[in-house]
Amino acid sequence: MKADNLLLHAAAWDAPGLLPSGRELDFVYVDPPYGVGTEMTARTGMGERRGRKQEGSGPVAYDDSQPIDALVAMIARAAAALRERLAKGATFAVHLDHRAVHEAKVALDAVFGRGAFIGEIIWVPGNGARGRGLSMTHQTILLFARSPSDRKLVRWNSELPQLREPFARTSLDMHFTNVDADGRRFRERIVAGKSYKYYADVGRKLGTVWSDISAMRANTPLNKEGTGYPTQKPEALLERLILATTTEHGTVGDFMCGSGTTLVVAARLGRCFIGGDVAELAIETTQRRLEAQGASFRLLAQKMAAASPSGEA
Ligand SMILES: C[S@@+](CC[C@H](N)C(=O)[O-])C[C@H]1O[C@@H](n2cnc3c(N)ncnc32)[C@H](O)[C@@H]1O
Repeated sequence: MKADNLLLHAAAWDAPGLLPSGRELDFVYVDPPYGVGTEMTARTGMGERRGRKQEGSGPVAYDDSQPIDALVAMIARAAAALRERLAKGATFAVHLDHRAVHEAKVALDAVFGRGAFIGEIIWVPGNGARGRGLSMTHQTILLFARSPSDRKLVRWNSELPQLREPFARTSLDMHFTNVDADGRRFRERIVAGKSYKYYADVGRKLGTVWSDISAMRANTPLNKEGTGYPTQKPEALLERLILATTTEHGTVGDFMCGSGTTLVVAARLGRCFIGGDVAELAIETTQRRLEAQGASFRLLAQKMAAASPSGEA
């Protein structure tokens, strides 16, 4: 029987205590506040502004005004609690930007063990550089295994078409000079006495700089993906991460789910999902989005003390 999908109105560190015993997660993605220094607002109606709170803003979705040290402590606390529910070979992903990613990496090394660090994905949202001086045009997704000894068991489904990219033009011209009986161009390489064939139409393994998924897909009201929730991530980004790290019927978790992007994508890909958020608006938005997609799930709400900036409940 397929496991229950859950949506939890709860702080991330309380989520493991709300799960049925023995329920494990194959991929967890968390996209916390980034340390922007202000409250973040949603667009819930015509004319409202979304993002940093300012004149004309819509309602506050969540607070991103806590100092970086408190934010990093909050992320580490959530990671330590969620780590207990990771399956063998699972991946834990944390999405941040330049403001907190370096301190978070060190804090998360302490949670998972330094040898559990898998690597990082540099995501280029494609908004372009702005303002005077150096402008940050990328964000970082840190990836960890459950423990250093689990590092070798971690899944990365690089054979899938969504995890491939075309070979460089020069490489195609220089090396892919053979054509098989079906008309497919290929290259043959002999490595340590063994012969390997690479087909041009299969492409090469995708690297860790992802610049082909535009943030605009999620952030414009012109696109049906956009919910108006601030810092909503594009479904294509989560699709690639979920496909890379799980198989069908695996369980995907996102415990700072915001508008619910991870959960709707997991459902569409036939994965089980467990999500949560502290913010009322996040839960409402996610619920609406999941229902519109016809996904079945149970909503559990925990009586919460407001999550304080220090990460203490
Ligand atoms: C950057 S947004 C997530 C956006 C989301 N990835 C999307 O695509 O819509 C960060 C979310 O973290 C939530 N959050 C912050 N602290 C939390 C905590 N301690 N536990 C659970 N959720 C938290 C906020 O309410 C907010 O919805």
